[in-house]
Amino acid sequence: LVDRERRLVRGHQAAGRASAQLETVELPLDNGASAVARVATIGLPLLVDDVEASPTPLHLATVRALDVRAFVAVPLRVKDRIFGVLTVASSEPKRFAAGDLELMSAVANHVALAVDRAESFQMIEELTRGLEDKVRVRTEQLRAANEELQAAYRDLQATQVQLIQREKLASVGQLVAGVAHELNNPIGFVYSNVGTLDDFVKRLRAILDVYRAVPLADAEQARVDEHWKQLKLDYALKYIDSMIEGIREGAERARKIVRDLRVFARTGADVWQAVDLHEELESSLTLVNHLLKERVTVHRAFGPLPSVECVRSQIDQVFLNLLANAAHAITGPGVITIETRVEDGCAVVAVGDTGAGIKPDVIGRIFDPFFTTKPVGEGTGLGLSISYEIVKKHGGEIRAESPPGGGATLTVRLPLTRRPS
Ligand SMILES: Nc1ncnc2c1ncn2[C@@H]1O[C@H](COP(=O)(O)OP(=O)(O)OP(=O)(O)O)[C@@H](O)[C@H]1O
Ligand SMILES: [Mg+2]
Repeated sequence: LVDRERRLVRGHQAAGRASAQLETVELPLDNGASAVARVATIGLPLLVDDVEASPTPLHLATVRALDVRAFVAVPLRVKDRIFGVLTVASSEPKRFAAGDLELMSAVANHVALAVDRAESFQMIEELTRGLEDKVRVRTEQLRAANEELQAAYRDLQATQVQLIQREKLASVGQLVAGVAHELNNPIGFVYSNVGTLDDFVKRLRAILDVYRAVPLADAEQARVDEHWKQLKLDYALKYIDSMIEGIREGAERARKIVRDLRVFARTGADVWQAVDLHEELESSLTLVNHLLKERVTVHRAFGPLPSVECVRSQIDQVFLNLLANAAHAITGPGVITIETRVEDGCAVVAVGDTGAGIKPDVIGRIFDPFFTTKPVGEGTGLGLSISYEIVKKHGGEIRAESPPGGGATLTVRLPLTRRPS
């Protein structure tokens, strides 16, 4: 067979005498001294009657070593490529005639055809294998690209939700701040007048007592008593104080709501200072203690936290809202876990509870102003929207998580140094 890489013809398959020896023969391809190499390069069949008296040059050392006197050599050709030489040799001279050469050529053609088919088959196999590999690699690439796209899509969706949230809060916030401003004065009248009213009622009650102590003639007394009864003054005097107290409480609550709402209006008069958030958490816990009592255990998982530059009163408000919500969410006995840590230049405060959790269909709305699941009169639905606004003003973010098993965690991130949004 022709070995083009090594530029030689080498024995491949032999039968008969000296076959083992023949299979190890190697003859240089380019060297004109070998008859077989010439057949392999030129492609013409060759008949040598007697190697000892040959007109064509031969590799005498090889033929003698193999005990060859006469031989026929025909090229094995597939299309235009000679891939080998078919040789029949004899130890006697003049053993072959022209007919043998023809027969050999015919055999060589069949061999070549068979080799061609085998090669094509192998090639197809190799191509198929290569194709399969390519398909596999391409499929893998497509899968990776698809995953990347899906991740990008999810990110985009999250960003969109956040943007909508911001837009919505910004516009509703402006409206709310305007309404709060308008309500501020009337609530102020009620609040300040109710104190005076209380004072005046006390004075009237005093003079009434004075009048009633004055002794009257029976007929006059009966007339006064009659009027007293008709006007249901016992009833009025019994309830007037608690009614005034009710007005005061209502006005106070309204005043607080309006004050809270004013965080939506950007006044810019806030005092920024370095604050120890652990201290603020402790004081907020004291304020919500009446909601916790013996029922709720507070677990403090405080990590090292440097002071944070913020508006203290506003951050207190955020903590109060989160703690109050957590306490409200826990109906029976339960645990509130407060975790603090530093992450990526931000202070992180996470308030988790063992309550019922936030349902997936409402979790997207809990930061909306006035969104509440609490009964009328119990929740205004402002706690979280105000907290959101405050945290945003501080250049931070607030997130809610509620795993399917129950419980909720509200996480606040605040930049350590002032970075107003
Ligand atoms: N920790 C929590 N666990 C379960 N649900 C919560 C939690 N925190 C908030 N929520 C839900 O989010 C809603 C909105 O909370 P937000 O604090 O804004 O208003 P609120 O607590 O209802 O009223 P308030 O204005 O008195 O705070 C709540 O009504 C509740 O449904
Ligand atoms: Mg709340």
